[in-house]
Amino acid sequence: MSPNLINFIYLVAGVLFILGIKGLTKPKTAVRGNMLSALGMLMAVAVTLLTINDVDYRYIVAGVVVGSLVGSIMALRIQMTSMPQMVALLNGFGGGASLTIALAEYFSTLGAAPTSMADMLVPVAVDSSAFGVGAEGTFALIAIGLTVMIGALTLTGSFIAFAKLQELMKKSYGLPGGPIGNAILVLGALAAVVFLVLNPGNMAAMLTIVGLALLLGLFLVMPIGGADMPVVIALLNSYSGIAAALAGFILGNTVLIIAGSLVGTSGLILTQIMCVAMNRSLANVLFGKMAAGGETIDADEVYAGKVKSAQPDEVALMLEVAQRVVIVPGYGMAMAQAQHAVRELADAMEVRGVEVEYGIHPVAGRMPGHMNVLLAEAEVPYDKLVEMDRINPTFEDTDVVIIIGANDVTNPMARESEGSPIYGMPILNVDKAKNVVVIKRSLSPGFAGLPNPLFAMDHTLMVYGDGKKAVVEMTTALNQAD
Ligand code: TAP
Repeated sequence: MSPNLINFIYLVAGVLFILGIKGLTKPKTAVRGNMLSALGMLMAVAVTLLTINDVDYRYIVAGVVVGSLVGSIMALRIQMTSMPQMVALLNGFGGGASLTIALAEYFSTLGAAPTSMADMLVPVAVDSSAFGVGAEGTFALIAIGLTVMIGALTLTGSFIAFAKLQELMKKSYGLPGGPIGNAILVLGALAAVVFLVLNPGNMAAMLTIVGLALLLGLFLVMPIGGADMPVVIALLNSYSGIAAALAGFILGNTVLIIAGSLVGTSGLILTQIMCVAMNRSLANVLFGKMAAGGETIDADEVYAGKVKSAQPDEVALMLEVAQRVVIVPGYGMAMAQAQHAVRELADAMEVRGVEVEYGIHPVAGRMPGHMNVLLAEAEVPYDKLVEMDRINPTFEDTDVVIIIGANDVTNPMARESEGSPIYGMPILNVDKAKNVVVIKRSLSPGFAGLPNPLFAMDHTLMVYGDGKKAVVEMTTALNQAD
């Protein structure tokens, strides 16, 4: 294949990745976007395979078959609520792949793959131009060192993120000195990269980079609470992209550089969006805890004697006469798998001429786009999903807001209580509506561990129970009215 043709196909693949990401920004075009990106990746992999020499295709076919089988089974069986764990694992494998590429390139260029740890301690005499002449060689070694470092920390960091989300690791462990301990590991690994660049044949330097970076991944993620893991995963996703882009430089593969850079930057942007939506800085997520004070706010003081409850059929009576209803879904809707029941309730209201919209908070649930994905699965029309900034001005003209399994994203303390840990987090201003109905099982707090004064407001009714059951009962009562 001529180099021009190869580069042209890589370019087309790069354009397909970009169109794919563009498509993913809207629910309507997301499936097509995913397909376009997958097609781009297929083209890139196929062309790469056709252009490499001395390849034993039996290993490639075995890898493709096993990888596709494991990946397909995982993707088909995974619950929507466990999707962040799956993304964490895939990020880890991405980092691991870049790590192994860099190690393979290093040892094959050196011409001396170590067979034991003792081998690693004996420096190999290498031709000064083995990794490239002059600046080219220096650049190649920097790329190899950094790929190993970022790939290794992404690998262990992502596995810890997986373990935390899967609740396999409940405690938080950290290095003494916290961020300072981690900074020492970073500086140590970077120093080993510099040493490797100056002494390419020193395999012990490579071993040090691998060891320190694996530890760094562990100690960066272990102290962070499971609840902040989605942000960490977005960041690790970005790291896996950076490692892949660097691996692209090592291999001289343009499409890997493009794909890695896209993952690296989009992961960073997503991290930023999530931090802004939670009103927290990245440093606070990585090194801090939620501001103190959350645990000490007394729920009894907020709720005592003020909370009113209702049965689903009583709510149906309100819905019968409503003109505009906004449904606000949260993590509890995902837990109850109530999205189809919610859609049926909305249908029953619309048949009666009620205007129904959904208010979507950017961090409702536990992963970006969580609510959009669930409601799209239930075939809720996309134009009914209204983002926070657009739905907020409409609450004053809304007769009933039905909150299903959402808590923090509706908590007025974020707007009003300066001392509150969630102060400043933008929320859905549901309390401005004429009537508020909250469906959840109890008065238990949400993710932030805080009581919610909304539940004790005069115009709020609590419907206690599992989200799906309560919504089904509301729909039945509404359909039976007349
Ligand atoms: P939360 O504040 O976590 O509240 C969810 C509520 O759902 C709980 O209070 C729980 O109350 C209820 N629930 C659980 N199972 C239920 C069921 N089967 N039926 C009915 N209700 C059920 O959820 P939210 O309002 O969606 O807020 C999301 C939180 O996660 C925010 O604090 C956000 O910062 C954080 N977070 C989000 C993300 C992303 S990217 N989405 C990432 C990191 C952190 P009961 O136990 O009383 O039922």
